[in-house]
Amino acid sequence: MRTILTGIRSNSVLTLGNYLGALLPMVRLANEHSGDSMVNIFVPDLHSIISEVDGDLRENTIRTLKYWLAAGLEMNENVHIYRQSYVPAHSELCWILDCVATMGETSRMIQYKEKSEGKASCNVGIFNYPILMAADILLYSAEFIPLGEDQFQHIELARNLAIRFNHRFQQEVFVVPASTADQVKFMGMSDGIRIRDLLNPEKKMSKSTAAENSKIMLDDEPARAAKKIMSATTDSLGRVKFDMREQPGVSNLLLIEALVTGVPLQDVLSTWAGETRYGELKKKVASSVAEMLEVFQGKFAEISDTEVYKLLEDGEKYANKVANAKLLEAQKVFGLR
Ligand code: TRP
Repeated sequence: MRTILTGIRSNSVLTLGNYLGALLPMVRLANEHSGDSMVNIFVPDLHSIISEVDGDLRENTIRTLKYWLAAGLEMNENVHIYRQSYVPAHSELCWILDCVATMGETSRMIQYKEKSEGKASCNVGIFNYPILMAADILLYSAEFIPLGEDQFQHIELARNLAIRFNHRFQQEVFVVPASTADQVKFMGMSDGIRIRDLLNPEKKMSKSTAAENSKIMLDDEPARAAKKIMSATTDSLGRVKFDMREQPGVSNLLLIEALVTGVPLQDVLSTWAGETRYGELKKKVASSVAEMLEVFQGKFAEISDTEVYKLLEDGEKYANKVANAKLLEAQKVFGLR
């Protein structure tokens, strides 16, 4: 049975952009495939500590897992949730892969370059991040890893490491993950969903933007979120049209409306075709967002910590079994066992 694997870092509360652009599409994919594939959903908590964590990491981790469930992740015998740091094989395989990866290829990672640029000092974890990520993927023989395009380079690295490792030992120890083109096909996306900053719609919505009205957080009070939509930047063209380049603010609102209501974008666009008053559109989007948050937060509140810990217990038992078996194979070919 093939494996689909993905994870979302839990450094802070997620934004509406994270939810609509990443979490929701991943939950859909997971539900669609969990009948005939293994689906591993994990919290990369070891990846979290390369940078600052808002609040308590343990609490954030449980909250993130509740987000998955509140977003509709259906649990069955093929779906496993686990915390990375509870599966020590990740760290151990990371070291082994460190000895396979080269400084050159790892230094070329865009995320590392961005995160280290201009800093007086940069921790080694930031550099090693993609190798740990390769271990996360290869330990479970994952073929598909649904992720945003900013992570494609890391998947390519995981592929290269798997290929190099297998070649070096002339054994198929690791399953080589699908190519970027096939990942994109699997996710069914032409270009990723990027929800924009409400005040500066040229930019992506980000939790690190200081202005509160730029972003909607998943724990925002629905009425507050509605106000943020009402104060969103639009333009002076006076026509409701989907054109991310010319009218990013209005287009962003249309996209949000489609995603929070589940109505196809084309249908949203035909509903609003010919409209010239942005106020009307904003009112509708504001109420749709408020309603979506109300429902989501209601579901979230119903999930108990006990329920999450029970799922983690099963998931981590499974993950350790699969990961330890693969780690042992890698250790054996290197002569460590
Ligand atoms: N790098 C991912 C991110 O920043 C998180 C992550 C770490 C991950 N390891 C992974 C995702 C393995 C998928 C598979 O979003």
